[in-house]
Amino acid sequence: MEITIIGNGNMAQAIISGLVKSSHQIQVVGRSLEKLEALKKQIPQITICELDKAYDITNQNIIFCVKPYNLTEVGAKLTGTANTLYSVLAGTTIQSLSQNISSKSYVRAMPNVSAKFCKSMTTLTGDENIKKEAIDIFNCIGQTLWVDTQNELDIATAVAGSGPAFLAHVADGIIEGAINAGLKKEDAITLTTALFDGFTPLLEDDEPKDIIKKVMSPNGTTQAGYDYLVKNKVKDKISQTIQTAYDRALELAKS
Ligand SMILES: NC(=O)c1ccc[n+]([C@@H]2O[C@H](COP(=O)([O-])OP(=O)(O)OC[C@H]3O[C@@H](n4cnc5c(N)ncnc54)[C@H](OP(=O)(O)O)[C@@H]3O)[C@@H](O)[C@H]2O)c1
Repeated sequence: MEITIIGNGNMAQAIISGLVKSSHQIQVVGRSLEKLEALKKQIPQITICELDKAYDITNQNIIFCVKPYNLTEVGAKLTGTANTLYSVLAGTTIQSLSQNISSKSYVRAMPNVSAKFCKSMTTLTGDENIKKEAIDIFNCIGQTLWVDTQNELDIATAVAGSGPAFLAHVADGIIEGAINAGLKKEDAITLTTALFDGFTPLLEDDEPKDIIKKVMSPNGTTQAGYDYLVKNKVKDKISQTIQTAYDRALELAKS
């Protein structure tokens, strides 16, 4: 399938890096020819096109990858009616997409930057008639989950869209703690990276509370660190982080 990506920023580049490994043909449309040419040097399989005053999207399958506040400005330059519009814009409803860009079908997609390594967790919702096609496309960059409502997608945005930033904050804390205790920086990074890698199968196998039980012995080292987390209500703070990110998606949807 021919897919046109509009926007060439962080998320677009992560999606493109994943999608070119499949058989899709990728065209990237952006406002800076210089940036597009630099991207083509990195990923020669793509074709590029500068978005100047107007761009005809008739019958195209678009993955729309600009910031939510650029929707009106970029939408005004798109002429014709697309075949499908997949939007990755956080907190931007299908109603407001359809007011700005004409398409036969709309799907909201919430991938994450792990798309670059074909490890994105992408949540999808929208027109059921293209559900299978949407899942097939985004399965090329990792796993997908189709949800029934845009509200669920906004919650998923906080979890899996923003999630890499939240986990990076945790990783940063672990690395900093290890360095402060006297470990070499590169060793602290090696340990933390392997820790995250080995954690996924544990989480697939057990609930978090059971993993904690298996690691912790009474009065041991884990217990000492875990008690500190509990005393400082770190779980509540993380839970509140998800709520705060979700609240922001709701605010964006209203604005
Ligand atoms: N980053 C993430 O982890 C993540 C995860 C899930 C969803 N998202 C969603 O992905 C979208 C893009 O985020 P991002 O992190 O990739 O942002 P970004 O790196 O800033 O990229 C935004 C892109 O939009 C382009 N753009 C802005 N105004 C434009 C205009 N008037 N005409 C043409 N192109 C224009 C920018 O062009 P220039 O390069 O020329 O400035 C840039 O390529 C957002 O809606 C966000 O909600 C992001």
